[in-house]
Amino acid sequence: MKLIGPFRQVITLANIPLRGKLSDEQIEIIEDGGILISQNKIHQIGNFEALKSENQNIEIEEIEGMQIALPAFTDSHTHICFGGNRANDFAMRNAGKTYLEIAESGGGIWSSVQHTRNASEQELLKTLVERIDFLIALGITTIEIKSGYGLDVENELKMLRIIKRAQQQTKATLVPTCLSAHLKPRDFEGSNEQYLEYILAEILPKVKEENLAKRVDIFIEKSAFQPEESKAFLLKTKNLGFEIAVHADQFTPGSSRVAVEVGAKSADHLEATIDEDIEFLAESDTVATALPGASLGLGEKFTPARKLLDAGAILAIASDWNPGSAPMGNLITQASILATFEKLTTAEVLAGITFRSAFALGLEDRGKLKSGLKADFVTFKTNNFQNILYNQGSLKAENVYIDGEKVL
Ligand code: NIG
Ligand code: FE
Repeated sequence: MKLIGPFRQVITLANIPLRGKLSDEQIEIIEDGGILISQNKIHQIGNFEALKSENQNIEIEEIEGMQIALPAFTDSHTHICFGGNRANDFAMRNAGKTYLEIAESGGGIWSSVQHTRNASEQELLKTLVERIDFLIALGITTIEIKSGYGLDVENELKMLRIIKRAQQQTKATLVPTCLSAHLKPRDFEGSNEQYLEYILAEILPKVKEENLAKRVDIFIEKSAFQPEESKAFLLKTKNLGFEIAVHADQFTPGSSRVAVEVGAKSADHLEATIDEDIEFLAESDTVATALPGASLGLGEKFTPARKLLDAGAILAIASDWNPGSAPMGNLITQASILATFEKLTTAEVLAGITFRSAFALGLEDRGKLKSGLKADFVTFKTNNFQNILYNQGSLKAENVYIDGEKVL
């Protein structure tokens, strides 16, 4: 066994419920705390000196100076495997061009598809691992990563295989998701429905065979796939044994309803969700995932996180890091900003980037510092956990632990 501490504060998030609004009084703070690790899992959290005297013959990892510890974060929605760069899209949007004009002049998702198809596997792997390391440095140890810039058998499998190879180079948990239904590629001859059939017949069986992903995502939107065809597709993927996530209600409402109806693990975006659908989501076990990075990248409104929490939804917050709509990648900055605009408590934000976002990925073994859970945690050089969100991302994580071992 190993005891790590003392920490000025250990924020456990133990006993905080999975759904609904939270007050900061619900945050358990262990002062002068220690984290006792056994076989890579959390054995006990308590006062450091008490744990030290109660447990003889244990290894002690002494913490220097004033630090606090809290559960490591989970980013449950990213597109960080990509080639190229869309800085020109960003500049054109800010200069007043519309999404359609940008797509027509060679930008948009399709341009990332071309760059990703043309990139070498080595280059894609290298940049992917660099982005993973950037996220780990923020205190994120569980990262969902989507395909969706390949959009044919060869290139979707290429992306998912690279994500699998990246897993061999990092201790972070990577959760791959097949997003072949991001957009019908321009070089596909046939209708949307035919492209969805192609995914079912040609891509998903191979994804399964090679065990490349257990989750399927789709972008339901006027410019991508329509609710009815998407619903039929998702029910079929479910029959194949995949878990479901949905890009829902980003610009127009209607698709979070589909996500709930098919029993998706999460409905992500929701910037345009109407009140009636907020209620529908709140009554379901489908996690509502806010992606403030996309609102900041596009200059669009934020997901109605306050209303979702008040209605009793399970609210997660993720970065959506991608080359187009969300280029920043700093989940801590984004979650802090979402909190100021949506009036979220510290407890709601911390829950949204820890155990609630892990739940969206079907991972219930992490995100709280509690006996028996995965010993992934992050430390900050400060005397008070409120400083993390207050500094809006500029207070950097000091150390990051995965399975009880310091990785940073
Ligand atoms: O989550 N909305 C669709 N997909 C991505 C954007 C991807 C891109 O622009 O490359 C998103 O925002
Ligand atoms: Fe996305």
